[in-house]
Amino acid sequence: MADIVLDQVHKRYGSLTVVESMSLDIKDGEFVVFVGPSGCGKSTTLRMIAGLEDISGGRISIGGRDVTNLEPKDRNIAMVFQNYALYPHKSVYENLAFGMRMRKTPKAEIEQQVKWAAEMLGIENLLDRKPRQLSGGQMQRVSLGRALVRKPDAFLLDEPLSNLDAKLRVHMREELGLLHKRIGTSMVYVTHDQVEAMTLGDRIVVMHGGKAQQIGTPLEIYDSPANVFVAGFLGAPEMNFIDGKVCINEGKPCFRAADFEIALPEHRLSGQAVRQERAATLGIRPEHIRLGAAEAAATSSTGSKAAGDPIHIQGKVRLIEQMGAQTVLVCSTPAAQHLRVLCERLHDVAVAAPCTLSVQPDRIHLFSKETGESLLSP
Ligand SMILES: Nc1ncnc2c1ncn2[C@@H]1O[C@H](COP(=O)(O)OP(=O)(O)O)[C@@H](O)[C@H]1O
Ligand SMILES: [Mg+2]
Repeated sequence: MADIVLDQVHKRYGSLTVVESMSLDIKDGEFVVFVGPSGCGKSTTLRMIAGLEDISGGRISIGGRDVTNLEPKDRNIAMVFQNYALYPHKSVYENLAFGMRMRKTPKAEIEQQVKWAAEMLGIENLLDRKPRQLSGGQMQRVSLGRALVRKPDAFLLDEPLSNLDAKLRVHMREELGLLHKRIGTSMVYVTHDQVEAMTLGDRIVVMHGGKAQQIGTPLEIYDSPANVFVAGFLGAPEMNFIDGKVCINEGKPCFRAADFEIALPEHRLSGQAVRQERAATLGIRPEHIRLGAAEAAATSSTGSKAAGDPIHIQGKVRLIEQMGAQTVLVCSTPAAQHLRVLCERLHDVAVAAPCTLSVQPDRIHLFSKETGESLLSP
């Protein structure tokens, strides 16, 4: 087992930079997830760690050893791909044993390793089958098993669950999490799926346009996204964004939108953020908006309020999404045409009904309209 350190790693294809200044210290045993939209440089970064891709700048070390110029086979890491990459004419047993046979591992040891991996993954009963006789989930288990028998210092997994249907994906995700707990080997996992990132990662690296936008634990990133991109990428239903401006009202900083004003937490606001009136984007997670009661509507006011008081916004229900345990309402207000509200399950709500939405000022996010960076410290 080993730490993996990326120091200012770059990847360029001609004049095109696809990974920029990636620095990251993956601790021994850690589960790190690279997440971001398609084309943001996740696979390239993983392939550079594996040695399958030359790096254009920077250094990579594994277990204190500089591997920047080492061949993949000399890095002692195992890679698992989305497309399984199994040998179609070999049995599951032979697929698992193949790498060890190539390395001239003694027969008894091969047998023992295959048995161990098959047990770990619950595929003991499939060892005689050929890949075409396996389901997608079973093939992905075999593909994981092939990595497992190598006893690598780290596993690199590139969208390993993306070919599975939704239900199986969740099941395999849990199995992978449990497997990591059991074997304790570092895993670096690439996905475009924010739920996989949130649920599996000890830490998440959110990538966009070849750059790490934020690195942190799932909850650090969820609670304090560094910019609009990260805020919108993690979380379902997605964070709501409302355009407006930061201004001072009666000496207090506030955010003003078309139809409401909300006090800003002064102690978390950088001085620069309020030096002058400036365009900004307010971020509110759907679970931080409450469907207000009748009395909330009665006290609603557009005037400035004390910091800490919830503010009330009048809107209209546009769409009702029942999710079983919870209900998502899509509402419109003068400042936002598409405001998502995550509620406890609701039965007595109708499309086009007027609604009062209340927002707690201490739950809001605020971003610069110009740069997208967060204007509030955690
Ligand atoms: N051989 C290549 N030549 C030029 N551009 C490439 C090459 N391989 C990948 N890219 C580009 O690098 C970017 C990152 O690709 P990739 O790491 O595969 O993204 P992701 O895995 O996040 O979807 C993409 O824009 C892709 O088109
Ligand atoms: Mg990829």
